[in-house]
Amino acid sequence: MASKYHLENSGIYLANTDIPRNKLGITDSEELHELERELLEEAYLIFHDELDDETVFDEKYFKSLHRRTFENLYEWAGEYRRFNMVKGGSRFCQAAFLESESRKLFNKFAGMDYLKNAEKLSKVEFVNQLAYFKGELITLHPFYELNGRSTRLFIDMITAYNGYGFVDYSTVTPSEYIAASIDCVQFANCDAMAKIISDGLGVLKTENK
Ligand SMILES: Nc1ncnc2c1ncn2[C@@H]1O[C@H](COP(=O)(O)OP(=O)(O)OP(=O)(O)O)[C@@H](O)[C@H]1O
Ligand SMILES: [Mg+2]
Repeated sequence: MASKYHLENSGIYLANTDIPRNKLGITDSEELHELERELLEEAYLIFHDELDDETVFDEKYFKSLHRRTFENLYEWAGEYRRFNMVKGGSRFCQAAFLESESRKLFNKFAGMDYLKNAEKLSKVEFVNQLAYFKGELITLHPFYELNGRSTRLFIDMITAYNGYGFVDYSTVTPSEYIAASIDCVQFANCDAMAKIISDGLGVLKTENK
């Protein structure tokens, strides 16, 4: 289980803080958050621009989003964590099983054609499958930090690929988002996450034509 001991001694955080050590030596959390926000904004432009028929939403792609977005800031960008973590009452996938669980999950996703086929699905089916997959990624919580943002980035690239816009989370409060995440992790129930995605998803471009 992730104890404070683990976190403090992991080398990931500056001593006695929740500020990750970073390549720029930033020690101010506001400054770090602002930089992370800018990097993520740039990443959305770059990855969106790169989307094409050849894009495969596999594990390599998922890791590459985290790595390429944050590699100038964090040593561990794109790397799975090596210690166990809990948040609130939720226990995420044990570090020892991350690689194998992730492989299993992405194999399953491959069997779903990486959800590159939304035109064959109703919006409800597409959203339910996305929410299931997103809930499994939330349960993995594979990176030391920035799991929420990189998972949303990943899901947004899939929705964008399929002609939907990015998911709009602006009307969701942080506590609603956490509650939906808890349902995924602790109860394997992704209904609330599906509702969040559904509410935030624009209409298919083809429906606008
Ligand atoms: N108590 C909890 N139970 C289950 N999942 C949780 C809990 N608290 C947070 N999470 C999940 O962990 C994610 C946060 O992970 P992390 O801090 O690594 O990334 P982040 O990019 O800072 O996320 P965010 O921007 O969503 O706060 C949340 O988005 C949520 O899905
Ligand atoms: Mg966080």
